[in-house]
Amino acid sequence: MSKTLKSLLVGTALTVAAATAATAEGVKLEVTHWWTSGGEAAAVSKFAEAWNATGNVWVDGAIAGAGGVARPIIISRILGGDPMAATQLNHGRQAEELIEAGLLLDLTDVAEAGGWADIVNPPSLLNACTLDGKIYCVPVNIHSAQWIWLSHAAYEKAGLDVPTNWHDYVATAGALEAAGTLPLAMGQQGWQQNIAFGAITLAVAGLEAWTEVNVNKNADVARGPEYTAAFEAVAAARALAAGSSVQDWNLATNMVITGEAGAQIMGDWAQGEFAIAGKVEGKDYSCLPGLGLNAVLDTGGDAFYFPVNDDPAITAAQKELAALLISPEAQVSFNLAKGSLPVRGDIDMSAANGCMQKGLGILADGGVLPSSDISFSQDTTIQIEDLMAQFWSSDMSAADAQAAYAKLIEDAD
Ligand code: GAL
Repeated sequence: MSKTLKSLLVGTALTVAAATAATAEGVKLEVTHWWTSGGEAAAVSKFAEAWNATGNVWVDGAIAGAGGVARPIIISRILGGDPMAATQLNHGRQAEELIEAGLLLDLTDVAEAGGWADIVNPPSLLNACTLDGKIYCVPVNIHSAQWIWLSHAAYEKAGLDVPTNWHDYVATAGALEAAGTLPLAMGQQGWQQNIAFGAITLAVAGLEAWTEVNVNKNADVARGPEYTAAFEAVAAARALAAGSSVQDWNLATNMVITGEAGAQIMGDWAQGEFAIAGKVEGKDYSCLPGLGLNAVLDTGGDAFYFPVNDDPAITAAQKELAALLISPEAQVSFNLAKGSLPVRGDIDMSAANGCMQKGLGILADGGVLPSSDISFSQDTTIQIEDLMAQFWSSDMSAADAQAAYAKLIEDAD
């Protein structure tokens, strides 16, 4: 273990002793998550307010740096015997090993009491929380990664209409540049570059090839002509993002908000940033699911897990919190702020803006795909993200990147 990680773990151990406690005033639960951008913080505060309103106390354990930084810290704390009371992770396979080690609370009784099997939509989200018939997490939202966000100010400055699909957007890039605008904002982190890769691939290689590779792990298709076209498109996108030096995804979103950049490919959590900046969909910005070419979305997103605790009062409070996070009120207020879709179909989302309505429409039409968090192990995901980081920050050829990627798909688990 690195020195930094060790000192971090010692530091947090002290906080947790105080942060997870049952007192006469209610139960304090430390909740870790990586929701630290403006929009994310506004969304998680909805959960915190709802929990505090029950007379219990939400001790906020935000970890800056997005999932890639937060996940190893969260997992080390649980493995190292210093667990928080509740934590965000993506639903899917990220907690597999923790569950197998018996470190996470079985929520099956809460799920049965709340009828989760009847309300969670699509059912794959509850499956992603289930191992050997037992439920270990509560899914709180659906986030999809296949979106492009376009700045109206940037297009107005260039004297062009806002494009309605990826190909039209690429055709406008020269005019954006000529107007002094960066065509594509891109945070310099592998997971963000991988999101752009995945979205472009789905749009350009098409649904069939994407599914063969991402669901069936078919390396021949990853080596085939559809993926060659996709890698060439990604190489072209790399050129459009040359000059984007920000790291954090929300700083890249901010470049679209201010009109400094024409577009960003990012998950629908970007919506939360436009919302707190007071920007209006259709007037200040546009969002195109499936990059305007394939109206399908993956069903990624977030879930809360509850490390096993030997204090029965804490365990009871953990279960109470799990039930609250999926309650109709919490689902509406949290998801409206987050830009994500709710995990239950029986609530009123009429206040959702145009982007969320597009997502809700795709969900209702059944145009949903499994997320990479569900299809791939964390090891595979990290290897793909590393390859994307290398590709986007070098002049690696599309052909070399495709060959390296196909090998990772061949070995994927
Ligand atoms: C994802 C998460 C989203 C969003 C995003 C950026 O993993 O599902 O809720 O927060 O990271 O931080």
